[in-house]
Amino acid sequence: MRLRHDPTARERLLAYPFSYEKETVTPGAWQNHFPQNQPLHAEFGSGKGQFITTLAARHPENNYIAVELHAEVLLKVAQKIEEQGLTNVVCLLANLMEVDRLFAPDELSRIYLNFSDPWPKKRHAKRRLTHETMIQHYQWILAPEGEIHIKTDNQDFFEFTLNQLATCDMKLQNITLDLHRNTPEGMELVMTEYEEKFVAKGQPIFRCEARQRTSDSK
Ligand SMILES: C[S@@+](CC[C@H](N)C(=O)[O-])C[C@H]1O[C@@H](n2cnc3c(N)ncnc32)[C@H](O)[C@@H]1O
Repeated sequence: MRLRHDPTARERLLAYPFSYEKETVTPGAWQNHFPQNQPLHAEFGSGKGQFITTLAARHPENNYIAVELHAEVLLKVAQKIEEQGLTNVVCLLANLMEVDRLFAPDELSRIYLNFSDPWPKKRHAKRRLTHETMIQHYQWILAPEGEIHIKTDNQDFFEFTLNQLATCDMKLQNITLDLHRNTPEGMELVMTEYEEKFVAKGQPIFRCEARQRTSDSK
């Protein structure tokens, strides 16, 4: 997601007391940024933050981090957090290609990847947030039994992702090829901004969950 470049966006974003960037965070110390020590969930590539702020409002028993590359976009998340008076969600302006420098081993309980850029050209496969190399980083920072929840509109990206998760020996569950017509029983549905657009056009949403098998490899 891109918004028009705004040279003041980073400064305005970081003026919020709940906004951080790589230089102002210490891996392993994320709980210090919340009033309560509780399970930590992050959305990687949060866009404007409808999904993560809705979850944070519904689930005060978790802490949330919106991670996003573009300050102009993350500013929208910060505005939602302030408007809703949420205290269990913070913003991190960062490039996820450096994810291993942002979090410590076992620090996250769940990672959400919603409508990640598919990078359709084969030569750009390493830029996909579900490339094997990235999943290995996620396995490192996820707690034992930690999960990755993935949604996308792009079937090729979804099939690539399932293969990469399997290569990394993650346990796959709750796979659906059409989330809104075939919702797994009991699943909580919270839509992202991108998802609303695709659903309005009648496009199927692909979704899966991947779980850590053990923490033996850490
Ligand atoms: C297609 S949008 C989806 C946004 C949101 N998750 C949704 O579903 O509405 C993908 C988002 O991921 C962000 N993104 C892409 N690559 C990233 C990276 N390497 N690090 C951090 N954010 C990234 C983009 O800036 C964009 O906002």
